[in-house]
Amino acid sequence: MTASLPQTGPEGGVAGVVVLAAGQGTRMRSSTPKVLHALGGRSMLGHVLAATAPLGARSTVVVVGAGRAAVEAHLAEVAPAALPVVQEEQRGSGHAAAVALAAVPDLDGPVLIVNGDAPLLRPGTVRALVDAHVAAGHALTVLTAVVDDPTGLGRIVRDEDGAVQAIVEERDATPEQRAVREINAGVYVGDAAALRRALGRLGEDNDQGEQYLTDVLALLAGDGDPVGGAPAEDPVDVLGCNDRRELAARRRTLNDRVLDELMRAGVTVVDPATTWVDVTVTVEPDALLEPGVHLRGATSVATGAVVGPDTTLVDCAVAEDATVVRSHCLGAEIGPDASVGPFSYLRPGTRLGRGAKVGAFVETKNAEVGEGSKVPHLSYVGDATIGRGSNVGAATVFVNYDGIAKHRTTVGDHVRIGSDTMLVAPVTVGDGAYTAAGSVIVSDVPPGAMAVARAKQRNVGGWVGRRRPGTASARAAEAAEQADTGTAGAG
Ligand code: UD1
Ligand code: CA
Repeated sequence: MTASLPQTGPEGGVAGVVVLAAGQGTRMRSSTPKVLHALGGRSMLGHVLAATAPLGARSTVVVVGAGRAAVEAHLAEVAPAALPVVQEEQRGSGHAAAVALAAVPDLDGPVLIVNGDAPLLRPGTVRALVDAHVAAGHALTVLTAVVDDPTGLGRIVRDEDGAVQAIVEERDATPEQRAVREINAGVYVGDAAALRRALGRLGEDNDQGEQYLTDVLALLAGDGDPVGGAPAEDPVDVLGCNDRRELAARRRTLNDRVLDELMRAGVTVVDPATTWVDVTVTVEPDALLEPGVHLRGATSVATGAVVGPDTTLVDCAVAEDATVVRSHCLGAEIGPDASVGPFSYLRPGTRLGRGAKVGAFVETKNAEVGEGSKVPHLSYVGDATIGRGSNVGAATVFVNYDGIAKHRTTVGDHVRIGSDTMLVAPVTVGDGAYTAAGSVIVSDVPPGAMAVARAKQRNVGGWVGRRRPGTASARAAEAAEQADTGTAGAG
């Protein structure tokens, strides 16, 4: 959601883009403005802006109102070149469009106006509408779609010759008009001057008492201005999103599109139903995604890599032939042939070199694990640099936090860290050094040394027999002693 969108595109046929995003989105029942709800790694607004960006419009205006502070902050992040314009009172989509055009008085020529809640819109669909508009020489062209269930949408009213006459909202429609299955997609291209003229004349004489953008069409037609409707090639593109059920459905559709594209390009997706890939992710041919994989944000997966099952990667780079099994990774770079999991937790700043291994129940953060080095089991590696060919024994902890500040640990090449070592940072273990299992290492270990930092073992003989008589342990010890004596006697 934080990835910024392309700001310019190839020369297009529109001078401006207006996104209507001031509505409350009441049916979402959310404290988050509707257009900020996310799917496929982008906000709804982000998807609309991405669909219109390739038109290369000189100005993009986003009408904000409900939740405007949050929408403006989001815009500054994803589309800093877009101009937010405030619609103080939500008096309808037509009023919103008028407010937008008033904010850019110099804008003339064709303007694309689009609802902010159409997350499945694609650049090709928008482009086709603009092309149709320009080719026909219309004053206004509306994108339409023929759908099975038009419930809740504006209907396209055509005359006997098929010419578009009006758009009628469902709540204002006659029974005959309600039977029409061609609907208004909420995407329009109109000549700026014609739009300004018609928007100034909008009434509020409808069921909602609002200024409907849709009424502009009939007003222009009445003036004798040429208007028309251009059906979308894929009606799915125009589906809006008004509540959480539609949000889930749109998210599913978007994901299916992403996976279709990946599979067509040569990626194996074992179970599309449980694989979720953001639109911002790249996956190379011959990568394999097992069931239950979630790839988010700026994640990239290279050829030959195998991800999953049950793995989430956020902003991660997985190099060729690496494997990541049942793991959760954030902001990690996983090198070629490296292996992660099962059950690893890689946090930001993790960098695994070629052939490195991070195994079961290992957590890493700000940690470089060099080429061929291994952290196979049950360890925490935080703020660390590990060289090449080193091995970190099970249950090792890089003790990076003194309660106030974090410190770094450096482990050289071909080091053997014994199991259950505590490396208390800041500390350095030199090339080729060893640490004894169970050591607490608080000072640097020179190259080639064996560091032993633990209490010497002491066996208290016969303790169990004396202090725990009659227990299963005592009997087992006694039997072992007798067997030992017997063996010794037979010799
Ligand atoms: C609208 C269309 C309908 C079309 C449908 C497609 C109108 C009157 N109707 O209906 O014909 O079939 O979209 O999805 O436009 N907005 C503002 N300010 C306002 C009111 C709305 O910015 O004062 C914005 C909303 O944020 C939204 C867009 O305008 O992005 C459309 O408003 P919405 O209430 O969603 O209209 P629909 O009833 O869906
Ligand atoms: Ca809507």
